[in-house]
Amino acid sequence: MTDLSVQIGDLSLRNPILTASGTFGYASEYETMVDFSKIGGVITKGISPEPRLGNPQPRIWETESGLINAIGLDNVGVKDFELSKLDYLREINCAVVVNFFAESTEGYATLAHTLGAMVGVDALEANISCPNVKSGGREFGVDPAAAADVTRASREATNCPLIVKLSPDVSNIGEIASAVADAGADAITVANSIPAMAIDIDSRRPRLSFGRGGLTGPAVRPIVTRLVYESAQATNIPIIASGGASSWRDVVEFMLAGASAVQAGTVNFVNPRASVEMAEGLETYCRQNGINSLEQLVGAVNMP
Ligand SMILES: Cc1cc2nc3c(=O)[nH]c(=O)nc-3n(C[C@H](O)[C@H](O)[C@H](O)COP(=O)(O)O)c2cc1C
Repeated sequence: MTDLSVQIGDLSLRNPILTASGTFGYASEYETMVDFSKIGGVITKGISPEPRLGNPQPRIWETESGLINAIGLDNVGVKDFELSKLDYLREINCAVVVNFFAESTEGYATLAHTLGAMVGVDALEANISCPNVKSGGREFGVDPAAAADVTRASREATNCPLIVKLSPDVSNIGEIASAVADAGADAITVANSIPAMAIDIDSRRPRLSFGRGGLTGPAVRPIVTRLVYESAQATNIPIIASGGASSWRDVVEFMLAGASAVQAGTVNFVNPRASVEMAEGLETYCRQNGINSLEQLVGAVNMP
């Protein structure tokens, strides 16, 4: 067996496949379908200081090759997360990464402190990039100084490994990646969903109650591959690719662009076992191609 292990700061993963926030609930939802011991880790739905109902329905619209969602960060809130979700997560045989967000820099720091101190939480992923809420999230992810502030405040609040999830909706992602790395992030996730919109031509109303949403799935993968590449050129911290990966081939492609790990997101709705199949396919690919360590793949694209 090829060693597929990955080190992200102090976070050790048995292999580079993680399930993406918001597409895998709090993991228990997938218990009968996914063998957690076959993947690197799970990332929870985004947790906020207080519970949130999210946006009214409809909040998902399927496109030809993807999904537009405006869930609006529906979640149980940090107190109920600890009371009703964490016991289950503590027992599963893979890393547990908790995605979180708040409406202010202080809010991020407080939540990072609280979540980072919980036994069973192996790493935190700060979402500074959600397009589907009126306040909080996205505005931090589009400005290098704000992104650095929120990263620094979260970093100072906890010793837990800290991943910062960037917005794809910026003109220079390298600038944000390097600001976040300098501010103390252990890794970055590239990237959140891409702002998008769909309209019903009969009613002339948007398909989603929120009006706009975020596009995910196969449609976004080539864009995210380019963003991963540009981020890798700008920083030395590990990059976790998130955007349209559906098979082990996509994992290899993201790694060649510079990713050290890859998230499976929208694909979970089509094939709940996709994350396991991606890990198994990657192992076979490495074995058949004489790759002993994933370092041989990361950033190994031959650019013209
Ligand atoms: C229904 C849905 C809910 C999501 N919720 C969150 C969330 O709570 N926090 C977050 O950081 N990203 C969230 N995302 C973004 C995903 O984690 C992922 O970054 C994105 O879907 C791109 O990857 P994919 O194309 O593989 O799905 C959500 C995506 C979807 C489709």
